[in-house]
Amino acid sequence: MISFGIDIGGSGMKAGPVDLATGELTADRYKIATPKPATPASMAAVVRQLVEHFEWSGSVGVAFPAIVRNGVAASAANIDESWIGTDIDAVFTEASGRDVHVINDADAAGLAEMRWGAGKGRAGVVLVVTFGTGIGSGLFIDGILVPNTELGHLELDGHDAEQRAAASARDRDDLSWKAWAGRVNRYLTHVCALFSPDLIIVGGGVSRRPDKWLPYLDVPTEVVPATLTNEAGIVGAALIADKAGRLT
Ligand code: BGC
Repeated sequence: MISFGIDIGGSGMKAGPVDLATGELTADRYKIATPKPATPASMAAVVRQLVEHFEWSGSVGVAFPAIVRNGVAASAANIDESWIGTDIDAVFTEASGRDVHVINDADAAGLAEMRWGAGKGRAGVVLVVTFGTGIGSGLFIDGILVPNTELGHLELDGHDAEQRAAASARDRDDLSWKAWAGRVNRYLTHVCALFSPDLIIVGGGVSRRPDKWLPYLDVPTEVVPATLTNEAGIVGAALIADKAGRLT
């Protein structure tokens, strides 16, 4: 069965059709810059464009960069504050004319990694951490997702962790890979002290270049790059497009 996923990030909104038998995109993904300000109206217009680009008429899964409970946004770290309390499902369904279901972006990436990627067949406590504009987290216990963990917002050394260690902080602070990896190491070591994960899967754009940061990590558990790299969000979103599979 072919499904359809949209992954919304701080800088881009990416979409593509996904084969749910293999977890692979069946066409090249299409990306439109995330509008600024990232309001419900401006983002809904992009969701519509993405769906129309692929002439997709079925239901749509969306990976969204906020806490998502019953389709409603409960936070807004890197998007417009007017999202808080907004029914994302309803806004995107109305704008696109398709049945839309939403899940947190890191939870979506985690679902995809657990099914087809670096977490496949892994039991115990597995943590998927995505480094992008912010830091997202997807926590799995024997393959079952604990949604909306938001570990990017742990307070560490007096800072919101994602402000220091997100991939965007490397650009903003003009850091070398080594200096950035030092911050990631501090963050992941702290996360290990709190959750004792059996495996940490690092996702986001940086998962395409593990040679740049992985050698600098000295974290007390196994750390591996995501294997679906930047497509995990689209694939995970496609997994929940069908209401029957909705998780949050
Ligand atoms: C948000 C999370 C999101 C993460 C990655 C954080 O700022 O609070 O909900 O998963 O960024 O986009």
